[in-house]
Amino acid sequence: MYGNEIKKILVDKNTIAARVRELGKRISEDFKGESITLVCTLRGGCVFFADLIREIDGDVEIDFIAVSSYGAGTSTSGEVKMVKDLSEPIKGKNIIIVEDIIDTGVTLSYLKKLLAAREPKSLKICSLLDKPSRRKVEFEGDYIGFEIENEFVVGYGLDYNQKLRHLPDVCVLSPEVYGG
Ligand code: PRP
Repeated sequence: MYGNEIKKILVDKNTIAARVRELGKRISEDFKGESITLVCTLRGGCVFFADLIREIDGDVEIDFIAVSSYGAGTSTSGEVKMVKDLSEPIKGKNIIIVEDIIDTGVTLSYLKKLLAAREPKSLKICSLLDKPSRRKVEFEGDYIGFEIENEFVVGYGLDYNQKLRHLPDVCVLSPEVYGG
């Protein structure tokens, strides 16, 4: 189904859908009787976010935030800048940040600190993928879809040079594509 740039499917769309349903159920149970604001981190988190919010039963609001790492390429400088802030204040609210992947942990450490300073009632992290072997800073998510090995993954929101985000499955990129 995919071209040569894809080495293999790592997590297929049916497996993703089943796990997203489970995460939605857990979040619904954990926040029973409370309202929750789910924060989508653009751009990678958008596909997971759109699926996850529809699996949550309860009083839900959504908002969007975009941050990016300084510097290009594979080595992040560890600095993050705000590209688009939230549209609403979050003081006193239950917030769940929804991400596609926790890699070095730099992005989410920054985001968590930034949003914690606004005094939400609670602040949790939900990420579809987690690559614990890549951490540069200590960081743990609260709701994780799949723990994966250190492979370059694309699809279901994740990109290579802004492409391939639209693939329905999480796939491993062929090393020839990025010279790996
Ligand atoms: C990716 C991903 C996470 C971050 C994870 O975003 O969506 O936000 O990197 O990496 P880290 O744990 O090493 O910080 P990216 O900066 O590529 O932007 P994007 O969401 O627009 O793809």
